[in-house]
Amino acid sequence: MLNLYEYQSKKSFSQKHLLTLQDYDIDEIYQILSLALRLKEKQKEHIPHRLLEGKTLAMIFTKSSTRTRVSFEVGIHQLGGHGLFLSDRDIQLKRGETIADTAKVLSRYVDGIMIRTFAQKDVEDLAKYGTIPIINGLTDTYHPCQILADLLTIYEHKGDFSKLKLAFIGDGNNVAHSLLIASSKIGMDISIACPKGYEPSKSIIDMAIKNAHESGCKVEVRNDIEKAAANADIIYTDVWASMGQENETKERLEAFSAYQINDCLTHLAKEDYIFMHCLPAHRGEEVTKSVIDGIHSVIFDQSENRLHTQKAVMTLLMGNNSLIVL
Ligand code: CP
Ligand code: NVA
Repeated sequence: MLNLYEYQSKKSFSQKHLLTLQDYDIDEIYQILSLALRLKEKQKEHIPHRLLEGKTLAMIFTKSSTRTRVSFEVGIHQLGGHGLFLSDRDIQLKRGETIADTAKVLSRYVDGIMIRTFAQKDVEDLAKYGTIPIINGLTDTYHPCQILADLLTIYEHKGDFSKLKLAFIGDGNNVAHSLLIASSKIGMDISIACPKGYEPSKSIIDMAIKNAHESGCKVEVRNDIEKAAANADIIYTDVWASMGQENETKERLEAFSAYQINDCLTHLAKEDYIFMHCLPAHRGEEVTKSVIDGIHSVIFDQSENRLHTQKAVMTLLMGNNSLIVL
């Protein structure tokens, strides 16, 4: 059985950024989850853990957020640092200043940047032109911070990842992409069901299949929701229209109408299945109230774990590794 509470890595954490998770190996993912569990314990026991004393994180948002904004700002504060909220309404990016110049300027002031935006390329360019760690707080393509919190939540409820089946039903979006990458790295079976035309990107499915060959798990992408949900340990869904797709809402509601998570579908999952959703949710659309507010739902554990996993990510990327004594 996997014991992440006492996980000891044989190598030090060498990643410089968190951009997609695809360039992380299983040991690095375990290091994050293990540190997150220890930081969570310290926080619950009110034991100070100021591992980023005096450090500043710039938080750039060109899309809305509740969880990401609050958990990063609270997280850096609890670590002894300071978070700087930078909405695109207020900074020069929106007036055409380049990502390259923004990266170079911010690198002179702060110790790390978390960015939520549309194009994955902008996140990658910040990393390319800046000299400080960059954390992807969601793009149209990926949401790695969410999935790290989800892995912690799954571990807390199920105790392991191998021999589990995660069924993601809905849009093949940023959350689905990051679930594909993370599950296939960590050796957890993943079965995705989407309406035709809304499947995850082919290049990301191919990456996940390659990862799965190495980790020894299954990756399936299909249109049949019942096959995906059958015997699942985890049923996961997300909104049908993501940020930036608001003008497609009507056609998406029609395309996805048979893809709702409801009591009929969850009966196909294992008896002790957990229901997950990154939130925000639309009750009555992608999921019924009975499921999302029912006893199998762990949605608020996922939200809480954003705080603990992101504190671990910031500590590992922005901190001095030799100081991580907890
Ligand atoms: N799950 C998530 O990222 O939530 P926010 O959009 O509220 O940050
Ligand atoms: N897929 C959703 C996730 C929100 C956290 C979006 O991009 O809007």
